[in-house]
This record gives sequence, structure tokens and C-alpha cells, in this order.
Amino acid sequence: MRVALTYNLKKKDPLKPADYFSECDSEETINSVVLALRTKGHSVEAIDVEYPALFSYFKKNRVDMVFNIAEGKHGRFRESEVPAVLDYLNIPYTGSDTFSLALALNKTLTKKILRAENIPTPNFQLFVKGDEVLDPDLKFPLIVKPNCEGSAKGINKTNVVNNPGDLQVQVKECIHIYRQEALVEEFIEGKELTVGILENGKTRVLPILEIDFSNCKKSGEYFYSWKMKEFQGNRELGLVPEFHCPARLDKDIEEKVKDVALRTHRAVGCLDISRTDIRLDKFNVPYVLEINPLPGLDPKESNFPIMAYAAGMKYEDLIEAILLSASERKRLN
Ligand SMILES: Nc1ncnc2c1ncn2[C@@H]1O[C@H](COP(=O)(O)OP(=O)(O)OP(=O)(O)O)[C@@H](O)[C@H]1O
Ligand SMILES: [Mg+2]
Repeated sequence: MRVALTYNLKKKDPLKPADYFSECDSEETINSVVLALRTKGHSVEAIDVEYPALFSYFKKNRVDMVFNIAEGKHGRFRESEVPAVLDYLNIPYTGSDTFSLALALNKTLTKKILRAENIPTPNFQLFVKGDEVLDPDLKFPLIVKPNCEGSAKGINKTNVVNNPGDLQVQVKECIHIYRQEALVEEFIEGKELTVGILENGKTRVLPILEIDFSNCKKSGEYFYSWKMKEFQGNRELGLVPEFHCPARLDKDIEEKVKDVALRTHRAVGCLDISRTDIRLDKFNVPYVLEINPLPGLDPKESNFPIMAYAAGMKYEDLIEAILLSASERKRLN
């Protein structure tokens, strides 16, 4: 197949905030995806997305499929930018469509859909201005998150609060810095799990990944905060989470967690691939935090490839599976 890989490159720019490029992809990831596709016999051209150069590229070059990992540039629909261009030009692409990408990036709207589907998600309230009265049903500790970010941008340990005063400070700061609403959720103490769904022939739920932060005490970080994600593996900082794949769960709980992830994938309308982040509380209720239709694909660092490896796949098999799932959809349409 002739494939174009669309991506946004992670750059270093001291004038931008430290987390500015966190969602974008590294050269290692881009090179690995290109190599995987070539290993499977496809011709590939990688395109760091710029507009309107993207339009001109596709006007000049015919491709069979776009392998899309572009996170987009601006605003709350950014992950849909490339798919929207491709929809307009009638070019097929891997992964979720324009609509589902925009939906999943909006945590509150996603949670409303999960609620309607009886999928457990932490109790929440959206703060638009910051001076709203706290819903008395919400129980501290609470966590404050920007409503439309990924890669844990804006999620630090100070975002977990235990009283109304700290809550107000964090909400105002979140709205001010990230120029968007703040989502306030009950903080679920318990196991951190993430579940990969890969559609290839039939939809498969990959072995669950458990991320254990108990080794990270020295760092003062205790959940998958921005710092934990950005500096994961740094021994000096003590940011050394332990990965268990499959997760250490009883069979019945494992099934329950997988079912919730699959139902989330379907409720949001994801295609080919998704990763659902879950916290299991002390009563073993799997609370869905969010779904990622463009999960990181760094072969060494990202959560999704770890789950694929545990399922017996090599990195190139994972990349090929995504491509084939999208091609099969194109054939059927
Ligand atoms: N309600 C919650 N209860 C407990 N921990 C939470 C909650 N919300 C978020 N967290 C912690 O913060 C992390 C990041 O939150 P979340 O997944 O919502 O953000 P994100 O930016 O979309 O992440 P990603 O990097 O997966 O895109 C979670 O993996 C979890 O460790
Ligand atoms: Mg997450």
C-alpha cells in the first residue's frame, strides 16, 4: 500500500510552556512507525502536518491510506484537524473519525455519554468561570483537570485538593492557564489501569496494563501526573512506576474492566484503536477516567505497545493491524 504518515513533531522551544509539545510525537515514534510499515512491505512518506501544505500534498500525491497520529495544532477540536481535511478530500485514514476524536478530547461530554450508557465514571462538575458553587454531592479529595487536554497536561499533584479553598485556587489557575473550563472530579483512590482495544478482523481487548506508583514515593508523585509521564523512568527523580501486564486482577474483575473499556470504545464510536484509562476503587468498581483514540505509539515508552507485546505482537504487527483494520473498513464502505 502507498501510505502517508501524518504527525505533529514534538519540538523544543524554551519560549513555550514546558508542557506545550507534550501531546506531539517524538522522532523515535515517527521513525518506528515508518520502519514498521516498510518492514510490512508498504511504501511510506511521513508528513509533519502544516496547513495549507497538507492540502497541496494530497492534491499532488495519491495514497491508498493515511496512517494518522497527528494530534493537531489549535483548540478543542485539534485532533480532528487532519481527519477533517482528509474527509473533505475523500482520502481514507486509520483510527477514529473527525467526530469521535473531537468528542473524546472533551472529557465532560464523554463522561455524559458514559453516564447514559451506565458506564461508571467519577462524579464531576464542570467549572466554566471558576466561581460556581461546588455541588454538595461531590466528596473530597477532588482532582482539577483541564477539560480538553491530553498527556496529563495541567495535571499535577497540587491539582488534588482536600478543601474548598484549595479547590478554588486550582480551578481558577486551570481556567486561566489553559484558557478552557476546569473539570472537577472525585479522586478515585485505587489501582491505575489502562485498557487497549485493537480492531483487527475482530475487536480484541488487549491484556490490561496496571501501573503501580508505589515505588515513586521518593518523587512525591503518586499518580499518572504530567511529571510522572514526562519523566517516566528517571531514577534520580524517583519516577519509576512499575508496569504489570497482564494486570494483577481476579478473573471476574479483569472481565468487568475489559467489558467497561470495550463499551467505552463503542459508546464514543472509536475505530481501529483506543486506550481507556480506568481507576479501580476499593469496591472493585472500574471508573473510566477518559478514552484516548490516538494513544501514544512510542515502541519503548508508551502504554499501548506494552499491551500489544503482552498479547504476543511485535511492534510492526501492531502498526500493520491498525492499517489493515482501516483498509478493511474502506473495502466494506
Ligand atoms: N478522578 C480521578 N481519580 C484518580 N486519579 C485520577 C482521576 N483523574 C485523573 N487521575 C490521574 O491523572 C492521570 C491523568 O488523567 P487523565 O487520564 O484524565 O488525563 P489525560 O491528560 O487525558 O491523560 P493521557 O495522558 O492519558 O491523555 C490519570 O491517569 C490518573 O493517574
Ligand atoms: Mg489519561
